[in-house]
Amino acid sequence: MSQNNFYITTPIYYVNDVPHIGHAYTTIAADTLSRWHKSGGDKTWFLTGTDEHGQKIQTAAEKRNITPKQLCDEVVQNFQKLWKVLDIKNDDFIRTTEERHEKVVQEVFRRLLANGDVYKGEYEGWYCVPCETYVPEAQMGEGQTCPDCHRPLTKMTEETYFFKLSKYAEPLLKFYEEHPDAVMPKSRYNEIVSFIKSGLRDQSISRTTLSWGIPLPGDEKHVIYVWFDALINYLSALDFPRDGGKWETFWPAVHHLVGKDIIRFHCVIWPAMLMALGVNPPVKVFAHGWWTVDGEKMSKSVGNVVDPFEMAERYGVDPFRYFLLREVPFGNDGDFSELAFVQRINSDLANDLGNLLSRTLQMIDKYRGGVVPAKYVKTQIEDDVEAMASKTVEEMTDLLDRFAFDEALKTLWAFISRSNKYIDETEPWKLGKAGDIDRLDAVLRTLWESLRLSAVLLAPFMPDTASRIWEQLGLPGDPLGFGRANWEWGKLDTEITVKKGDILYPRIDIEKWKAERAERDAAKKQKTAPVAASAEVEHKPEIEIDDFKKIELRVALVEDVEIVPKADRLYVLHLDLGYEKRTIVSSIREFYKPEELKGKKIIVICNLKPAKFRGIPSAGMLLAAEGKSADKENVVLLTLMDDSIPAGSIVG
Ligand code: MSP
Repeated sequence: MSQNNFYITTPIYYVNDVPHIGHAYTTIAADTLSRWHKSGGDKTWFLTGTDEHGQKIQTAAEKRNITPKQLCDEVVQNFQKLWKVLDIKNDDFIRTTEERHEKVVQEVFRRLLANGDVYKGEYEGWYCVPCETYVPEAQMGEGQTCPDCHRPLTKMTEETYFFKLSKYAEPLLKFYEEHPDAVMPKSRYNEIVSFIKSGLRDQSISRTTLSWGIPLPGDEKHVIYVWFDALINYLSALDFPRDGGKWETFWPAVHHLVGKDIIRFHCVIWPAMLMALGVNPPVKVFAHGWWTVDGEKMSKSVGNVVDPFEMAERYGVDPFRYFLLREVPFGNDGDFSELAFVQRINSDLANDLGNLLSRTLQMIDKYRGGVVPAKYVKTQIEDDVEAMASKTVEEMTDLLDRFAFDEALKTLWAFISRSNKYIDETEPWKLGKAGDIDRLDAVLRTLWESLRLSAVLLAPFMPDTASRIWEQLGLPGDPLGFGRANWEWGKLDTEITVKKGDILYPRIDIEKWKAERAERDAAKKQKTAPVAASAEVEHKPEIEIDDFKKIELRVALVEDVEIVPKADRLYVLHLDLGYEKRTIVSSIREFYKPEELKGKKIIVICNLKPAKFRGIPSAGMLLAAEGKSADKENVVLLTLMDDSIPAGSIVG
């Protein structure tokens, strides 16, 4: 088999967030492929890193009163620590604030400016600050909101440099027509092709509105737009454009693993940038799906973000790696349920894999004093197992070429199950009792070899588990140590002394687990969760004291509460302000009963322009706190704790 070059990348992660299961997912997938290709003898390079420029980072740093670089230096460690914990063996880690990256970005910019693919112009549009992208009017949500994060958009006009993306619509379509596998899965390929067909606009690639970015060479009031900067990491890490740099080996044999949300950047803008540079587009972009958690979208405010550190500590790194890749086809969305995770540990790891190892080693110890002989006589059933072994290698190779991690693991598990069945069929304990040493040797060696091969095939997914099996099988070194020769049946023809060790994966008692989980959930609820992480809190612009003084706040006594017919959220509150009476319509009915309000002194904005709700006049607004309590949205009115102050008094 020939040696191929294989370059695998993850997105570079923003450093304004703590690493979560989504980040872990792509990186584990990339690590598995990297180990698989290395084990198959391919010349392989695996890159991951962090995306450290842009508005999000600048804002997050401002909120913490530190410099963006300080924030990056701190948060990057969370990622690097996680990759260590998850046994990720990347060949390089790139940070976009490194000089080696910044100078390549500037060089790319210079080249595109020189060949006319970048020009200076003016951009006016609706911009989403959190997503760092302009949103075309046709895609805006109701009330000028972002279609992705649903937050309000800001109208912006700025001088900017444009990349001539429109010029590359035709070349991109031609490229995709000739390379129908360049974007996977097929549904994403189709999405990209129809997006390009719907027309491409030139892309603004510089900003004057922030400072945290790579200075634009020759016009330093601009910084380079974070996505233009970030995408180039895949080349800058390979020392592009240096003659003899790694990029000459690994480009365009690049395989970008990305989440489905960032494919336009990777499958439209990035290949067009490369074409403009005279470099071939990537051979593959694979877009994986998104994880929900127990059926819900993962979000900090819901408090259901899966912490990969916690999962690895609680259940082990390898089971976590296994579960993520086994549970859901890589291109689909999937749901993370801890119960499903625990059940998989029991069925696949403790039962199927663990049992095969412990039964085999027990029998080798019991009937052959721990020694597996080298020579044995095969019968039809051994031939069948051996044939299935080579078919497993072929199928897994083919499936992993198509990023079908789940199918590849299913294929391996079919072989593991076959081996367990082989024990039941050959009944070695009977052979042992009967003293049929020839048959016993054939069965034990076949089982030992099945386990050896399973460890080799499992190693890219579960490196530590494979090593533990390897050791118990009495083998020296590492399961991935011998390259492709490892994948062949029966290469090793010497006698082996096994070393039975601890059980691979003890079964988890589901009833006990459920009780422990319920306790954990209860403890979590008790803690009052912050409204949001500081990076997510949205603030209004600063105001002057005079702005505040324009608001007339007064104490009001609730005299009566009226229900509005056919409006189940509304009350009409009859208020006494001392100097006058007025009514205010308020949507607090689901939170208060009328008798809970009558007689209370509350705070009212008195000088708010009167309005009508359902035809009822409303003069002013009540002050209330809105938030979550006991997992439900709640509203609590601001009331006077000491009501000795008369109605109508000023608040301020
Ligand atoms: N910095 C950019 C990528 C630049 S690459 C040149 C970025 N970073 S990110 O940190 O916000 O996201 C990284 C990845 O996490 C994306 O691929 C995204 O799809 C993935 N995920 C975020 N939440 C996810 C889930 N809930 N599930 C699976 N993946 C998810 O975008």
